[in-house]
Amino acid sequence: MKSIHDCYTLNNGVQIPCVAFGTYKAAADESTKVIRLAIEAGYRYFDTASFYGTEKYLGEAIRESGIPRSEFFITSKVWKTEMGYEETKEAFARTLDNLGTDYLDQYLIHWPLPTPDYAEWKQLDVDTWKALEEFYKAGKVRSIGLSNFLPHHIENLLEHCEIAPMVDQLEYHPGYAQEAAVQYCKEHDILVQAWSPIGRGRMFGDPLFLELTEKYQVSPAKLCLRFAVQNGVIPLPKSSTAERMKENQDLFSFEISKEDMYRLRTMPQSGWSGEHPDRARVYEGIEKEIRN
Ligand SMILES: NC(=O)c1ccc[n+]([C@@H]2O[C@H](COP(=O)([O-])OP(=O)(O)OC[C@H]3O[C@@H](n4cnc5c(N)ncnc54)[C@H](OP(=O)(O)O)[C@@H]3O)[C@@H](O)[C@H]2O)c1
Repeated sequence: MKSIHDCYTLNNGVQIPCVAFGTYKAAADESTKVIRLAIEAGYRYFDTASFYGTEKYLGEAIRESGIPRSEFFITSKVWKTEMGYEETKEAFARTLDNLGTDYLDQYLIHWPLPTPDYAEWKQLDVDTWKALEEFYKAGKVRSIGLSNFLPHHIENLLEHCEIAPMVDQLEYHPGYAQEAAVQYCKEHDILVQAWSPIGRGRMFGDPLFLELTEKYQVSPAKLCLRFAVQNGVIPLPKSSTAERMKENQDLFSFEISKEDMYRLRTMPQSGWSGEHPDRARVYEGIEKEIRN
């Protein structure tokens, strides 16, 4: 990969750029400003979700840009409260409407379980996936996939699905590289995307980070993003400023050595968001029932 526009080929042949722009909280001021900046900065692959409330702003920003829809790669996701066969059909229609488009490049199931104690999750995932398969077969979405699915969740789906998922979007950054899940996806030809690829900066003070940012003369954010790219994982960084948006694309002029890649992959857990599909969310060591 030599630029953010270079692509991987998904298991169905669709081309997907190697770096995206994340839109969670990218329209906190209820305007298209940040997303417009991201388009101007060169991003064409955008990650959104019904839960983020940014679909509408993304659609508007794309139309305002005057750049043809076909030049963009848009991913959205069905939220926990929208799962189920009929519910997902309604959610998908709302998403297309919010974005003002008649197709998506990618549609994902956002989480495998609506709540950690949801007993019937296996059937719910299968029903939800069936709706995604129908959108795919009808040509309304170019690729379908998962988010926050761990190997045991994916196994259930693979047992029952007609079309295998093309991607899985996981929390992924040095300090929380989910090796078992990433390895499983690689073995099953499922491309991994990294959410919170910068860990929202939570690992920046780690001694290994201090050493390697000095050694490679790069910012901690670039170290994280290059780490994902070198592992063949698509990072989805979000930023609010033009400077950071540019910085987060400048990932192709340095290379992390093999040895340092192993050190980053095996560093002690750091910067974890506290989210796990099978558990209540952990806030700095305290488990709470509220999850988002
Ligand atoms: N599938 C899921 O369950 C899931 C969950 C969470 C996120 N996501 C997706 O992943 C995307 C990214 O995750 P995220 O937003 O949680 O975290 P992130 O991209 O790891 O971090 C974003 C934070 O890092 C800061 N930042 C960005 N570039 C920087 C740089 N070069 N130097 C220093 N700080 C920098 C941003 O600040 P500024 O904004 O001030 O620049 C922002 O506060 C989301 O937007 C969303 O699309 C998916």
